[in-house]
Amino acid sequence: MDTILILDFGGQTTQLIGRRIRDLGVYTRIVPGDAPLASWLTPEVRGVILSGSPFSVYEPGAPKPDESVYSLTIPVLGICYGVQRLIHDHGGEVAALARKEYGRAAVRIQEANPLLDGVPDGFLSWMSHGDTVQRPAPGFRTVGVTENGLPAILVHQRQRIFGLQFHPEVTHCEHGERILENFVVGICGAGRQWSIEAYLRDISLRLRSQVGERTVLLLISGGVDSTVVAALLLSVLPPEQVHLMYIDTGLMRKGESEEVRDGLQKLGARHVHLVDAAGSFFAALSGVTDPEEKRRRIGDLFIQVQEKEIARAGVANDFLAQGTLYTDLIESGKGIGQKAEVIKSHHNVRSPLVERKRELGLLLEPLASLYKDEVRRLGRHLDLDRETIGRHPFPGPGLAVRVLGEVTPEKVRILQEADAIYIRELKERGLYDRIWQAFAVLLPIRSVGVAGDSRRYGYVLALRAVVSRDGMTADVFPFPTADLLEISARITNAVPEIGRVAYDVSSKPPATIEWE
Ligand code: XMP
Repeated sequence: MDTILILDFGGQTTQLIGRRIRDLGVYTRIVPGDAPLASWLTPEVRGVILSGSPFSVYEPGAPKPDESVYSLTIPVLGICYGVQRLIHDHGGEVAALARKEYGRAAVRIQEANPLLDGVPDGFLSWMSHGDTVQRPAPGFRTVGVTENGLPAILVHQRQRIFGLQFHPEVTHCEHGERILENFVVGICGAGRQWSIEAYLRDISLRLRSQVGERTVLLLISGGVDSTVVAALLLSVLPPEQVHLMYIDTGLMRKGESEEVRDGLQKLGARHVHLVDAAGSFFAALSGVTDPEEKRRRIGDLFIQVQEKEIARAGVANDFLAQGTLYTDLIESGKGIGQKAEVIKSHHNVRSPLVERKRELGLLLEPLASLYKDEVRRLGRHLDLDRETIGRHPFPGPGLAVRVLGEVTPEKVRILQEADAIYIRELKERGLYDRIWQAFAVLLPIRSVGVAGDSRRYGYVLALRAVVSRDGMTADVFPFPTADLLEISARITNAVPEIGRVAYDVSSKPPATIEWE
């Protein structure tokens, strides 16, 4: 299959580059940026992309690609750090900017180039860099500049080497998809041979031959990802070979555990292990207010409960499957280049059980190269119902990161009630499917209100609703005002502990989707 190879230098958006290109129907493979290239450069590779990075080319330890990348006959594109790397390594000059360029920036096209076919002059690019190309290397020409006169697009005069200072893979970048398409399809000549159907065929064969007659244990979280893995395993293997385990931490949404149980039965699962561990989780969280400490305690306890229950179920020596996605890996600092900076620790990726299974070759992560909406498409091919596939993502630590400050059973109950009203209202108003993720957050403050003739101190509840393609970046959902006001009133009427409702209007970045 025609392939675009992406060298990952640890940039936060490396995975997005791969995603966008796969959206164009072209297969992508992401490899560590500094890996020797010989084994990766198969005849199917039609082009190479150098990703961004948190490093500066001058920093000690800054990742460098295999030298052979500079003498390839196939086209090469550098993005952000990638172009700085190309220019620096060809003898040009890269320097720190006095002020980091961040966000939307118009690009003036100075010269036509196949990379820019169909892209209008003055388009708004998306910048996120602290260094810039100061002087192009010999052989390179600047064909586009930013409003500040900095080189935004560089091309080599003879070789097929291209560079972009901005991030065409980020959805905020106008015509970014077109630029990537120009490179991948136009310049590299890669065929559109990748599809979810092809992926499903391939992964089914691989799972069947890898697992053989053995048993697979899958930890179910109730979310789309693990449900899709469950459906996949049950479609590929006989149900006797598939064990599903669900640990109820008490930090789930209202009614979630019941829904999960019913869903698994519908999938035809034979071995379902439901574990009620709510009491232990609340005990572990008592008195803890620091978000990372909460995550750590939940993660540690999760692992303990898992190990105990797996031993009890008698499946300790089998394959372990989990619904890890690309974005889980990158956001946990475990991206393929392993240089991505840790933003939040995700317990589902770091557990010793998972590491042990990985070392033993017993870990199955059939979604690890897919993004959320690709997983949803896969779910549709596996006949999962719309409601299940359309569920908003839910974080591993559950409502613990949505009850800010100390987590108590009472606060979780209040949040569950409010959240259930919010979600139900969104569904009834036809808004749920237009939103990537919506949830309520219980703030650790109380504000004054009136109830009848008396003053009352109620909790403040924040409502969050964002639109996104993959959770890596997100925009605020432009909530219809009437709906927002009505939903707020429904919540304060039905949940007396809540005195006030606020709507969160921050995008990601700079905010994250979750509040903790
Ligand atoms: P943030 O808040 O980092 O979230 O913008 C991005 C996406 O990841 C989810 N999230 C988590 N998922 N464990 C998880 O499994 C976690 O600790 C965690 N923290 C955030 C979040 O809900 C959003 O979809």
